[in-house]
Amino acid sequence: MIDETTYAELREIAARYPEKRSGLLPMLHLVQSASGRVTPEGIEACAEILDITAAEVSGVATFYTMYKRKPVGDYHVGVCTNTLCAVMGGDLIFDRLKQHLDVGNDETTQRRPEDQASITLEHVECNAACDYAPVMMVNWEFMDNMTVQSATQLVDDLRAGTEVHSTRGPKLCTWREAERVLAGFPDGLADEGPSAGPASLVGREIARQRGWTAPSSDASGSAPAVAQTKVEAVQQADTSRAETETEQEKADD
Ligand code: FES
Repeated sequence: MIDETTYAELREIAARYPEKRSGLLPMLHLVQSASGRVTPEGIEACAEILDITAAEVSGVATFYTMYKRKPVGDYHVGVCTNTLCAVMGGDLIFDRLKQHLDVGNDETTQRRPEDQASITLEHVECNAACDYAPVMMVNWEFMDNMTVQSATQLVDDLRAGTEVHSTRGPKLCTWREAERVLAGFPDGLADEGPSAGPASLVGREIARQRGWTAPSSDASGSAPAVAQTKVEAVQQADTSRAETETEQEKADD
């Protein structure tokens, strides 16, 4: 429900941006945190605050898969079924979880008398964590190197209300709590757990041991000085390709 507190927070998000409509994405996350999904009421609230139409808000909310029009359970459980995870066991995990939870893709479990929480199961696209395949996500926290057994245990624990941690450390919060963080209201737990796990750092370690460095970007072979200001960074940026393309477009017109 969009109560006065949520309205005030939606306005607060819009005010963070020079162009207030830039706040739409986090505002929609806040709507999901408050209402469990993107509701017509939430769409109207965003449109009113941003001085845009409800159709424009709807267009954004239906474009990105992280915005949900159906109510989401207490935990959103994603199983990566992109190529690497799929062949490493993601397809099998997803099939087994559908059977185990008695739901299809993007469906939410029925609450049994013994359940403390419900789960929405969805197959998700590559999470750029292929070095830990097969990967699952709970409310966008990583669960690495999963198996059918560990995946089944995970959803059983979530439904039972048992405290669960991501395989990278952080304690899992509910989907609505996670949505509030995505709206830009930190829960103070961002630094829990490592930012990159060992498997992701193997290449860097090998490069260090062998003394490898990235090639210079200029023809002289010397590394450019690190820009100290945004202006210097813009001056150093290699825009030659974009400039060539612009010239070509002008010539074509
Ligand atoms: S394919 Fe699953 S994280 Fe990349």
